[in-house]
Amino acid sequence: MEGKKRAAHAMLFPFPCSGHINPTLKLAELLHSRGVHVTFVNTDHNHQRLRRPRGREGFRFESVPDGLDDADRAAPDRTVRLYLSLRKTCTAPLVDLARRIGARQRVPPVTCVVISGLVSFALGVAEELRVPSFVLWGTSAVGFVCTLRLRQLVQRGYTPLKDETYLTNGYLDTPIDWIAGMPTVRLGDVSSFVRTLDPTSFALRVEEEEANSCARAQGLILNTFDELESDVLDALGDEFPRVYTIGPLAAAMHRRVDHVAHGLSLWEEDAACMAWLDARPEPRSVLYVSFGSLAVLSPGQLAEFAWGLAASNRPFLWVVRPGLVGGDRGMDALPDGFVAATKNRCFIAEWCAQEQVLRHRAVGGFLTHSGWNSTTESIWAGVPMICAPGFADQYINCRYACAEWGIGLRLDEELRREQVAAHVEELMGGGKKAEEMKRNAAVWKARAEAATGPGGSAYENLDRLVEELRVEGS
Ligand code: UDX
Repeated sequence: MEGKKRAAHAMLFPFPCSGHINPTLKLAELLHSRGVHVTFVNTDHNHQRLRRPRGREGFRFESVPDGLDDADRAAPDRTVRLYLSLRKTCTAPLVDLARRIGARQRVPPVTCVVISGLVSFALGVAEELRVPSFVLWGTSAVGFVCTLRLRQLVQRGYTPLKDETYLTNGYLDTPIDWIAGMPTVRLGDVSSFVRTLDPTSFALRVEEEEANSCARAQGLILNTFDELESDVLDALGDEFPRVYTIGPLAAAMHRRVDHVAHGLSLWEEDAACMAWLDARPEPRSVLYVSFGSLAVLSPGQLAEFAWGLAASNRPFLWVVRPGLVGGDRGMDALPDGFVAATKNRCFIAEWCAQEQVLRHRAVGGFLTHSGWNSTTESIWAGVPMICAPGFADQYINCRYACAEWGIGLRLDEELRREQVAAHVEELMGGGKKAEEMKRNAAVWKARAEAATGPGGSAYENLDRLVEELRVEGS
């Protein structure tokens, strides 16, 4: 695009949870590495929790109040309260903040606002500041399209479900063959939000409104690469003319950012698990098990995973974070006798440096909830997966990992320890299917490397995005 160039200053504001903060922070680092001034805004609560991260030249951290009190933070519906509170209270503090920073000497004024999903109210901040806005939507392109189409699924009467029997009577297998750019998929795979009986379902409405409101932004940024999702990206281009596919973000960071001055993890990483992996002599012999930052398992589901892993006889590293089990429980919820039964071949961590773990030579498989960040990190590491989706976009990620990319094995929705053990054995035991998955994973890893390397699609798209940010009046 022709136009006068200026110093670009991006103010980034993610929804305050790990699944949004992590990719937004990576984008911030990438923009900074290309000469863009960055202001990364957390909520005050997370800013304290992250031990007040220090910025550096051209990269500053700021924070705004989230409007919650202690009772809100302890409530089971705290994420809903947080969502509503941000919408209600954060516009003015963000506008003020941008104006204050812009008034400082040696700092260019804020020239664009970049948000993650679920904080679409902040598009209004950009409008008030009269600067362009961009949304980094944290799912796959197909996950985004499925969320857009929730509106049509409601209009066409697929959801809300008529009654509880529809959850188990095969209705969720109804073929959906009318979403442009996608193969025929099961209704149940489109999104977890179709599984509601509530005609006023808050989650369903919020998700589709948030996705559809991205049309108000100047551009849509996705943590994916063209080769991985070409059909769906082609179809999306008709509706969203400016899509920047710059992922996998973990790979792009590795290629383009020399040095990251701060670790920004809401949980402390257990360094001992790396030493444990170092001590495993056999390459690709360890299964890594993690369900991301939000999933909550019932004690029964935890027990099926635990006893399935125990029965498999393969070494594994399992992240059991506080809150993984309902009622804010973690390792204390593991079944009696499990630790003794898996002694010498299991390491349990509360949190780990996942990207490093997946790229460790000892790791050969990933039992995952199919969150999009985890999926892209696994693709970049060339590690095939066992998929146990449970929420939001995770079902469609699993569908694509298993049926389109050939790098995943799916667990049934009704979790059974026998199947967990059989899938682990199948993946880690090196049978025909496992070999094929490993070959496919190696191909996708190479494509991810190529996309994020010089001349690759994601590499060029990042440069294109930065140019766009520099053009005056864009
Ligand atoms: C959320 C949604 O649940 C998911 O469906 C959506 O695709 C993205 O946003 P989350 O459930 O946290 O994310 O899963 P995921 O997207 O996989 O993100 C988890 C992040 O935490 C990854 O970047 C992973 O590397 C990191 N992680 C996880 C760690 O750094 N250490 C750990 O021990 C576990």
